[in-house]
Amino acid sequence: MQISPLNDAIGARVDGVDLAAGFDDETFAAIHQAWLDRCVLLFRRQKLTPAQLVAFAARFGPLEPPPGSEKDLRSDAGADEARDMWIISNVVENGKAIGALGYGEAEWHSDMTYLNVPPTASVLYGHEVPAMGANTWFANMYAAWEQMPQDLRSAVENAQALHNSSYTSAGELRKGMDAVTDVRDAPGAVHPIVITHPENGRQALFLGRRTNAYIKGMTVADSETMLDRLWDYCVADRFSYSHQWQPGDVLIWDNRSTLHRRDAFDPEARRILWRCQIKGTALPAANAA
Ligand code: SIN
Repeated sequence: MQISPLNDAIGARVDGVDLAAGFDDETFAAIHQAWLDRCVLLFRRQKLTPAQLVAFAARFGPLEPPPGSEKDLRSDAGADEARDMWIISNVVENGKAIGALGYGEAEWHSDMTYLNVPPTASVLYGHEVPAMGANTWFANMYAAWEQMPQDLRSAVENAQALHNSSYTSAGELRKGMDAVTDVRDAPGAVHPIVITHPENGRQALFLGRRTNAYIKGMTVADSETMLDRLWDYCVADRFSYSHQWQPGDVLIWDNRSTLHRRDAFDPEARRILWRCQIKGTALPAANAA
């Protein structure tokens, strides 16, 4: 097995591993450590069944079923083995979308931070991907925190933010939700803006997503100004990596130390990703240690 950085900012590529065949505990320990250190891992040229993808994802912890708003999307995996896997796709069959998120841009976010305990990690497998475009981007929130200018650090190190649950990262209002008219009252979960990573004790910026975020205790105007400053800073090129998909790519990212987004793409291009999600654990504030 060889592990090499994707770029200076974030991510590592793992070669010499066949995820379908599985691997021993020693190999997994090296993979797991690289994932904690580099936030995102890429495995190329994999050929997986749904059950094999689920088995790989489950090495990182117990899996969670698809989120509520996406449960009615069929999985093309069939039967029980697909219970813990769902589809990200723009493909429409017989008038019905076979997966979530369509072809539009997905804004920078961590997954499901509107829950009190957001997922630990997400895994994507490139089942069918366009030759160009639809890149998925990742940004390193350890580095963003470690390199943050002191005045911004002091302003947010003990702050908490409300993470709104009303919209998907593609900007769609979730089923049963009302449009947000006041970010202070929006439904969602409150998290520290700087967390201590539960597995390695490193501190990381934890922002969730920009839309409808609110920093507790501030006026809405001050919160908006501070959030704009934070977001302008933290997704700069020097913290990020843009992934151009090839069929058979597997990406796994640490949802606690990573933001991700997706470029919009040609609606006529077929894109089908299989996705698994690892259940989360509590996220302590950086100052709670
Ligand atoms: C997501 O999890 O935000 C989707 C990523 C993608 O479609 O590339």
